[in-house]
Amino acid sequence: MDQAQQLRNIIKASQQRPLARVITVTSGKGGVGKSNTAINLAIQFRKMGQRVIILDADFGLANIEIMFGAVPKHNLYDLIYKGMKMSDIITWGPGEVGFISGGSGIVGMSNLSRDYLSYIIQNLAQLDAMADIIIVDTGAGISDAVLEFLVASGEILLVTTPEPTSITDAYTLLKALGRHERFSRTDTKIKVLSNRVESEEEGRTLFSKLNLVVSRYLKLDIEYLGSVPQDEELRKAVMQQTPISLKDSKAKSARAYEAIAGTLMNKEVGKTIQKRGMAAFFSHIVAGKKNL
Ligand SMILES: Nc1ncnc2c1ncn2[C@@H]1O[C@H](COP(=O)(O)OP(=O)(O)O)[C@@H](O)[C@H]1O
Ligand SMILES: [Mg+2]
Repeated sequence: MDQAQQLRNIIKASQQRPLARVITVTSGKGGVGKSNTAINLAIQFRKMGQRVIILDADFGLANIEIMFGAVPKHNLYDLIYKGMKMSDIITWGPGEVGFISGGSGIVGMSNLSRDYLSYIIQNLAQLDAMADIIIVDTGAGISDAVLEFLVASGEILLVTTPEPTSITDAYTLLKALGRHERFSRTDTKIKVLSNRVESEEEGRTLFSKLNLVVSRYLKLDIEYLGSVPQDEELRKAVMQQTPISLKDSKAKSARAYEAIAGTLMNKEVGKTIQKRGMAAFFSHIVAGKKNL
């Protein structure tokens, strides 16, 4: 059996166990609320009894850990290069949300040998047994690393705000995604969240504008997920390093996250979302370079 076959067998074996739902949060422009979305949805899913792990794949700034107020000792790099176990690199934060810092681990993955990759993918597959939902928080913009995550995702959550640049950058990101050689229109659902809106109406209008150009020029299907209002309480919560959904579950932004988490749970479970799990997610990421 050649090595590629070996790797495919590992992925197949891991897929026979229950798989986690992988949701990738992204945006065209930075600072629009991705990390807040990731962490607050994680907490809302926890409240619904789901086991949740966040993978922080934003290599620039370690946002999530700052927002958590819990600094992880280890990251994915330690698993890949230092032989640490998955359980050693997960930090359990407030609300019992698991958190893994990507560190610089994922960047170098494409240069690793197949043996090494199969070892890593086997380790990542353990996440499917540890979580029902894995939320990947990506960096902003159209870097190769972000696109790799997006094409590997079954479910993309695109965060935008009413700022004109946020909408045009979201369009540019979708354009790059649609052109990516490994992007599949049928396998990936793109859901849009309007953040920092003054009214629900503003959120829907924002989506309509984006959808108009995306369906006309990119021929991509996007779906509206809902909106999160501009909320001063959320900003204060960030300053206090406590996610708003834990600090004040009655705050208007926390209620909006609750509603959105509810929508994500109700509409999809067992239906349209094909759970691929973590092993398949990562094998997708390395596939481009490795020809698995
Ligand atoms: N709904 C909101 N209401 C008020 N302020 C917000 C809201 N969402 C985000 N912010 C502000 O924007 C900042 C950046 O959010 P963050 O989630 O870190 O963005 P990203 O991860 O996209 O860079 C937050 O620190 C907060 O001050
Ligand atoms: Mg962030």
